[in-house]
Amino acid sequence: MANKQTGNFKLETRNVELWYNKFQALKGISLGIREHHVTAFIGPSGCGKSTLLRCFNRMNDRVDDCRITGEFLIDGKDIYDPKVDVVHLRSNIGMVFQKPNPFPKSIFENVAYAPRIHGVVKNIADMNNLVEESLIKAGLWEEVKDKLQQPGTALSGGQQQRLCIARAIAMRPGVILMDEPCSALDPLATAKIEELIDELKGTFTIVIVTHNMQQAARVSDHTAFFYLGNLIEMNDTHTIFTAPGKQQTEDYITGRFG
Ligand SMILES: Nc1ncnc2c1ncn2[C@@H]1O[C@H](COP(=O)(O)OP(=O)(O)OP(=O)(O)O)[C@@H](O)[C@H]1O
Ligand SMILES: [Mg+2]
Repeated sequence: MANKQTGNFKLETRNVELWYNKFQALKGISLGIREHHVTAFIGPSGCGKSTLLRCFNRMNDRVDDCRITGEFLIDGKDIYDPKVDVVHLRSNIGMVFQKPNPFPKSIFENVAYAPRIHGVVKNIADMNNLVEESLIKAGLWEEVKDKLQQPGTALSGGQQQRLCIARAIAMRPGVILMDEPCSALDPLATAKIEELIDELKGTFTIVIVTHNMQQAARVSDHTAFFYLGNLIEMNDTHTIFTAPGKQQTEDYITGRFG
């Protein structure tokens, strides 16, 4: 198995194969994601990173002609069990996308919306606390505490991305999936998100897709390298970047292809 790590995992895949119609995008992927660690998915464009990430909260359910075999587990339980409530699953596995996508609502509402529709808080005071706590954890509170009623879309790109992280955090998920969360941000906003990822891993399990090798090296504990739908190698990040086991990994991290 390409994944050398053993033990108990927060998320796990077992021999996953995925087809978009006749095109096979994932080939025999078996890997484990550790709780309260940051795991980076790296690899050239089109190798299947986003596809795999989206499978964990069943976002490919909505894609026509997408067929999956193998297993996805969270806390040892089958994510694709027909009894699983997908809405509940997604509240436990939050997602942050490449382009910040706040709702066209106030900053407060962006964070309060999901907890309200899921009925996770009982009264206004609890909601105010949850919104404040989520914005603090996302490192945004000081910048927005005096303008919570202003539209989320009026914030800067980096602030919008932290608002999207606050929105995910508010549901107190076990896992946060991030698909190139910094690729639309400038270096300063990127540094803020990277700092935040480091703080958040104390509370959440984080999986991040990134094209930026330095970012993977800086923020992640484990790194998985994919190529053409295969998991080539997964190991602790230091080992992947200093002593990769496979030639393809070495070629990619040293910039020889991709
Ligand atoms: N909805 C879809 N329908 C058909 N093919 C798809 C679909 N989504 C992705 N693919 C194909 O599956 C492969 C993997 O795509 P995916 O988006 O997972 O790659 P990626 O590693 O995230 O790439 P990038 O780094 O460019 O974001 C690609 O060949 C892509 O064209
Ligand atoms: Mg992608």
